[in-house]
Amino acid sequence: MKVVLVGFMGSGKSTVGKLLERELRIPLIDLDSLIEERTGKTIPQIFREEGQERFREIESQLLRELLSSKGSFIISTGGGTPCHKNNAEEINRKAVSVFLYAPFETLWERIKGDTNRPLTKLGKEKLKELYENRLPFYTKAHLTVNTEGKTAEEVAEEIKNYLKRRER
Ligand code: S3P
Repeated sequence: MKVVLVGFMGSGKSTVGKLLERELRIPLIDLDSLIEERTGKTIPQIFREEGQERFREIESQLLRELLSSKGSFIISTGGGTPCHKNNAEEINRKAVSVFLYAPFETLWERIKGDTNRPLTKLGKEKLKELYENRLPFYTKAHLTVNTEGKTAEEVAEEIKNYLKRRER
């Protein structure tokens, strides 16, 4: 089984991914970390030196590589992953996808001023627009979890229960 976590920046994909890794006893692969490993560059560096379009190409290529490989794992994606290059469809064909929903204001409070996320430079208004444009892609996921007011443990538990129900 492959489980893919999607959602906007700051939605808790990495944190929830780590909990699921322990709970489900399958490894977590962080797509951004894999991109950094393979390119030998940090995400901000790729954006700065090669541009966002090139970043999206690398991201989609590595995502496809993971999805068509054998084995069970969790993929923690980047906030834009399912919104480009038909990635949402590809994810749904090969894995179980989970959208971690949170309202924009909650996410903004977590990500503002984070220099490791090049898109935060857009500022609050533009980022809110991006968030709204991305919602239709995120909601293609098999499961949407409203994370507002929940701990990462509670979110992971919900996902685990859903996966159990699906297996039956
Ligand atoms: C991006 C989100 C980032 C990273 C890159 C672009 C986006 O991942 O992939 O900075 O387009 O929203 P996180 O969601 O883990 O911050």
